[in-house]
Amino acid sequence: MDSATYAIEADVEATHWWFTERRWLFGRLIAGFALARDARILDIGTSTGTNLRLLRELGFTRGEGLDASAEAVRWCAEKGYGKVTQGDVCALPFDDASFDLVLATDIIEHVDDDGAALREIRRVLKPGGRVLMIDIAGNDHPLLDTYLQAAEVLRDASHVRDYRADEWLAMFRGAGFDAQVQSRWRLPIDFETWVERIRTPADSVAGIRALWAHAPDEVRGYYAVQPDGSFEHDALLIDAR
Ligand SMILES: C[S@@+](CC[C@H](N)C(=O)[O-])C[C@H]1O[C@@H](n2cnc3c(N)ncnc32)[C@H](O)[C@@H]1O
Repeated sequence: MDSATYAIEADVEATHWWFTERRWLFGRLIAGFALARDARILDIGTSTGTNLRLLRELGFTRGEGLDASAEAVRWCAEKGYGKVTQGDVCALPFDDASFDLVLATDIIEHVDDDGAALREIRRVLKPGGRVLMIDIAGNDHPLLDTYLQAAEVLRDASHVRDYRADEWLAMFRGAGFDAQVQSRWRLPIDFETWVERIRTPADSVAGIRALWAHAPDEVRGYYAVQPDGSFEHDALLIDAR
């Protein structure tokens, strides 16, 4: 993400429904784990700190973050969200068995070697520790899946792939986790803010609009595409240990 995108996200992460709804969902789950207040918790792909804000609100004293971007580290420091290390999820700068819980929201989809990322997460988790991952889910139907992946990569050139639920689970199992899909939901996407949030170039915005406009009815129906380009897609939460 570029500097301007971080600035926009830093501005809206406290109040925008995208972040507040997810913090609500996460908060309920994490509270159910009955972790000690001094449990060590790592948020990977911290960006401007939405999950660190949540951990603080839940009363945890040892939440920390990791992000590849120096901008992200700077924003979190400016907001007083605690320690955020600059680094790569595929080579985590932490000792084995360091964390009780690892959070990874909307980050693994951006990583080329997702298997390496999950193995690293496994390595730094304490025995019995847990991972909560939220990401977009691909579609089991090839046609529907093709349109989703095309829209995603037009919107964000760093997008790699939205995996299907079975692909996610296989990936987690391959990294040594016992994983399950904890929940799935339809995520309504407001087109204007979706592209504005990440500063999608104008020609790519036009490309997504054209993609939706010329898509078969089956595709437009499934994704509930609206005249302004807004749509719905699938998100999932994986709970692994
Ligand atoms: C879409 S943002 C997600 C931010 C936040 N977790 C959320 O859910 O809103 C993805 C973040 O992951 C970071 N990121 C991407 N690849 C990474 C990698 N290989 N290692 C660590 N962070 C990475 C990016 O710098 C960016 O800040």
